[in-house]
Amino acid sequence: MQDLNALVAEACREFADIAESAHLEEAKARFLGKSGSLTDMLKGLGKLSAEERKPAGERINAAKNEIEAALKLRREQLAQQKLERKLAAEALDVTLPGRTAQRGGLHPVTLSQTRIEEIFHSIGFDVADGPEIETDWYNFTALNSPENHPARSMQDTFYVDGTDAAGKPLLLRTHTSPMQIRYARMHVEQYRHATSMPPIKVIAPGRTYRVDSDATHSPMFHQVEGLWIDENVSFADLKGVFLDFMRTFFEDDNITVRFRPSYFPFTEPSAEIDIAFSSGPMKGKWLEVSGSGQVHPQVVRNMGLDPERYVGFAFGCGIERLTMLRYGINDLRLFFDGDMRFLQQFG
Ligand code: PHE
Repeated sequence: MQDLNALVAEACREFADIAESAHLEEAKARFLGKSGSLTDMLKGLGKLSAEERKPAGERINAAKNEIEAALKLRREQLAQQKLERKLAAEALDVTLPGRTAQRGGLHPVTLSQTRIEEIFHSIGFDVADGPEIETDWYNFTALNSPENHPARSMQDTFYVDGTDAAGKPLLLRTHTSPMQIRYARMHVEQYRHATSMPPIKVIAPGRTYRVDSDATHSPMFHQVEGLWIDENVSFADLKGVFLDFMRTFFEDDNITVRFRPSYFPFTEPSAEIDIAFSSGPMKGKWLEVSGSGQVHPQVVRNMGLDPERYVGFAFGCGIERLTMLRYGINDLRLFFDGDMRFLQQFG
């Protein structure tokens, strides 16, 4: 009798202490299983006399029912706790604002470059791309730059390890003009067996490098080269193309251009191109935007063409400069600082 009450109390205590259902099933086996304490007692009934057997059996059964009830209760508690833990862990706060996907944006210089490519595509120019590590021949010699030209000096040009086939040091191109030669030679080669050659009409935008750094100069900057060679392309065509380029780029139909005599080894005559806006804060001020000129006969020859037959113009324009004018930016270094507060304004 005392035994049974103690057994029920022990089972209740043990069940209450158990925090995991797996352990609860082990405990169940100990009390109610085939070789559990209660089963042992039931087996012992056989040894009792007939009169003793009935009440003892009833007591054992009552104890068994109590233990089973305690077990059921604990099972339910544990299942409920488990469910609550799961719900808490997977809780979704529907009052939180959603996380939007971060949208990237193009760099202002890239925006300008794309814009320039679209403008020139629309008037039949090809867009070409070339190496940033150049040979002395493409960057200088083929462009008619004399051996002692100051641009070749260590102060202006970044030289890199390695030499070309002629044993001259490789360099980071100081302008996009080597693309004049590269593109023209490729074009000439392509039409070598044709009865006539279509005009060379190309722009070549890209990175250029010079040893130079201040508010208006960066050691790495972008240029766009323009080249149009055919049997009768004149300075008037240069003026027409460039003016149209400027008016479309700046969305100002009243921009004016002016050609100021200048010198480049690869053009003759040569000119700086200035533009003036018809309105806005820059109104009426002449702003230099490009070098240009009639392609020098020696350069035409280096393209593999006869300068008596083929003529044309070239220009080379700074893309950062155009971008600064378009958006009213006054410090070139902003383009390369990587400051999101600046860059996000162009998204
Ligand atoms: N390459 C020249 C420069 O970087 C610009 C230029 C290009 C001038 C083509 C004339 C013709 O300054």
